[in-house]
Amino acid sequence: MKPYFFPLLTFYVFNLLLHGASAVRVRDASLIIGDWEPVKDVKDSHIREIGQFAVSEHNKETNNKLQFGIVVSGKFQIVSGINYRLNISAIHLSEANMYEVEVFEQEWKKIMKLTSFKQI
Ligand SMILES: *[C@@H]1O[C@H](CO)[C@@H](O)[C@H](O)[C@H]1NC(C)=O
Repeated sequence: MKPYFFPLLTFYVFNLLLHGASAVRVRDASLIIGDWEPVKDVKDSHIREIGQFAVSEHNKETNNKLQFGIVVSGKFQIVSGINYRLNISAIHLSEANMYEVEVFEQEWKKIMKLTSFKQI
């Protein structure tokens, strides 16, 4: 067994258990791309963590002081990691706004990147 295979396998099995078979689809031996699937539990601690991360990264990039509120809705897509697209509420200058954010995560490499942040 190749050294990188085990974390990948664990990752897929984990996602299979967590999100169901439709989320994990093998289209090619080396490439796994899933459809966008709804996030079922927006209160899940990891989903909140993704939302919180998006706000704190955005604050770092812009010097804003948004305060994360809640995740309102979301989708995720399995690529060579997971793309999350979340609608979150956050407070900016005492006003609650809605934002659509995108975060890419590769848990086994400890990678989390904010790829999009826009007010909606
Ligand atoms: C965010 O909200 C907009 C407007 O309600 C909706 O069209 C979009 O699908 C939502 N996105 C997510 C990721 O839930």
